[in-house]
Amino acid sequence: MAQNQKVAMVTGGNRGCGLAFVRRLCQLPFPGTVYLTSRDEARGREAVEQLKGEGLNPSYQQLDLGDSASIRRFVDFIKRTHGGIDVVIANGAMPFPKQMTVAEIEATLRVNNKGNAELCCALMPLLRPQARMLIVSSGFGQVVHLGPELRKRFLATDTMTVAELNGLLDEYMAAVKDGSFKEKGWPDWCNKMSKIGLVALARILAREASSDRSRPGILVNAVCPGTGL
Ligand SMILES: NC(=O)c1ccc[n+]([C@@H]2O[C@H](COP(=O)([O-])OP(=O)(O)OC[C@H]3O[C@@H](n4cnc5c(N)ncnc54)[C@H](OP(=O)(O)O)[C@@H]3O)[C@@H](O)[C@H]2O)c1
Repeated sequence: MAQNQKVAMVTGGNRGCGLAFVRRLCQLPFPGTVYLTSRDEARGREAVEQLKGEGLNPSYQQLDLGDSASIRRFVDFIKRTHGGIDVVIANGAMPFPKQMTVAEIEATLRVNNKGNAELCCALMPLLRPQARMLIVSSGFGQVVHLGPELRKRFLATDTMTVAELNGLLDEYMAAVKDGSFKEKGWPDWCNKMSKIGLVALARILAREASSDRSRPGILVNAVCPGTGL
């Protein structure tokens, strides 16, 4: 029975936009299971109880984008329990305060970009026909924030691999570390870099999905949720 149900999941579902995504999915006539996931189990279960108090019925799984074992555990759970997935909302992210140390920038990009890439790539083979994968980026994710040469490289997603994209982010980190990022055309704020990277990730995965004729109708998009939540 579980194999025939539709399945949705949201990362960072315990608060903010993530909680709103889960709430909306549960309010829809969605024929299946909606997983609220969070890095912290107590906060996630509290959010599930909050939604249950509103008459909704999300399920819960722990998922920390900074922990490969947690990502693998979640993906294995979905495969074992449902055999596939229909809606993936990659929303979870560490914040970008204006003042960050180099170590904090590196740790944040590790979670927000490499963690998201790891999760989305692992879920790609499980996407069912007509599935939707939404990667939450931002208006800051526009290549206009890059110098002309870097802009061309980030727009080359018709051939780029996820490993190559991660390599570009490593180049950015190296330029942050040696202080050359401005002269090399990288953005002045790592939030912009991260969100540009997430748009590129969505473009790569969208290309891969559209070339898979065995599973038609899969859409991968990057979105800006707007501001103010
Ligand atoms: N709100 C805006 O104005 C705005 C504008 C543009 C883009 N965005 C993007 O929209 C998304 C959601 O924004 P928001 O305002 O709702 O953010 P938020 O209130 O800061 O919530 C972020 C969520 O991500 C989770 N998270 C942090 N680290 C994680 C990790 N390692 N693994 C899994 N989840 C993790 C947080 O969990 P904890 O509670 O445990 O910290 C929280 O649930 C983000 O990608 C953000 O960059 C937001």
